Amino acid sequence: MQPPGLVKRFNGNRRFDFNSRESTAVQGRIRAAIISIMRRGKFITFEGLDGTGKSTQMRKLARALRAAGYKVVETREPGGTATGEKIRRVLLDSATQGLSPQAEMALMFAARAQHIAEVILPALERGEIVLCDRFTDSTEAYQGYGRRLGSQAVLSLHKLLGGNLQPDLTVLLDSDPRMSLGRARRRNQQASRTKQTSLKKHAGDENRFEQENRAFFARVREGYDAIAVREPHRVIKVDASGTPRSTHRRIMKAIATAVNLSSHTR
Ligand SMILES: Nc1ncnc2c1ncn2[C@@H]1O[C@H](COP(=O)(O)OP(=O)(O)OP(=O)(O)O)[C@@H](O)[C@H]1O
Ligand SMILES: [Mg+2]
Repeated sequence: MQPPGLVKRFNGNRRFDFNSRESTAVQGRIRAAIISIMRRGKFITFEGLDGTGKSTQMRKLARALRAAGYKVVETREPGGTATGEKIRRVLLDSATQGLSPQAEMALMFAARAQHIAEVILPALERGEIVLCDRFTDSTEAYQGYGRRLGSQAVLSLHKLLGGNLQPDLTVLLDSDPRMSLGRARRRNQQASRTKQTSLKKHAGDENRFEQENRAFFARVREGYDAIAVREPHRVIKVDASGTPRSTHRRIMKAIATAVNLSSHTR
C-alpha cells in the first residue's frame, strides 16, 4: 500500500505536500512552480491578536531588509490581490452580519488560494522575500479555535486549497489581549473619524472581529500558543508589549538566527 502522503522537505521549513491521491487541479497547477522555487525566496508571516503590532512591525522589517539590499514584497491576508481585497471587505466590515463560521472560513481560503497563486508563489519564484501580514495560522486561531471549527478542518483545507504552503518563519506577536485590543480599537476609532471628515462615508470599516468578546480572543490566543508549541521550528513567539522599537529589535534578532538570508536576491 502506498504511504498516505509524501512530504518533501526543501530549504528549511517550507514544505509542500505531494500526495498523488490528493492531487487536485489546484495542486497540480502550482506544483510545477513550487518545485522550481523551493530553493529560492523566503516566506515570512506575521501573526497575533488584533492590535499586537503586526502591520507596524512588518513595515519596519521590510524597511530594514530593503536597506540591507533585499527585494521584499509586503502583502496581507485576507487580501493581497484585487479579488482578495474585495473578500476582505466582506469579512472585516462590521456591516457584514450573520456570516456563518463555515462561510467565514471558506472566504478566508478563497482569498488565500488567489493570493498564493497570484502574489506569493510568483514572488518566491523571483527569489524575493515575501512578508505576509497574517496567513493560515490566523485561520486556525480565529476560525479553528475562536469559532470552534477545529484545527483539523483548517489544516485539511490548507492542504486542499493552499497546497499546504508553509512559511519559512512565522513571527507570533504576543501581548496581553486587553492591551492589544485597546490599541486596535483606538486605531479604528481614529480611522473612522478620518473617514467621517472625508467623502468616503460608505467605505466600510475593519471592525467586525474586534467586536468579539473576551472569551473569543482568549480562545484565539490559546490557538496561537498551541501552534507555537506544535511547530517550534517555524514559529517564534515575540513579546510585543514594549515599544515598537524594542519589538523590532527582538524580531531582527530572531530573523537573523532563524532564517539564512545570505543567499537571497539583493
Ligand atoms: N509597541 C507598540 N506600542 C504602542 N502602540 C503600538 C505598538 N505597536 C503598534 N502600535 C499602535 O497600535 C495600533 C495597532 O497596531 P497595528 O495596526 O500594527 O497592529 P496589528 O497587529 O496590525 O492589528 P490588526 O490585527 O488589527 O491589523 C496602531 O495604531 C499602532 O500605531
Ligand atoms: Mg494590521
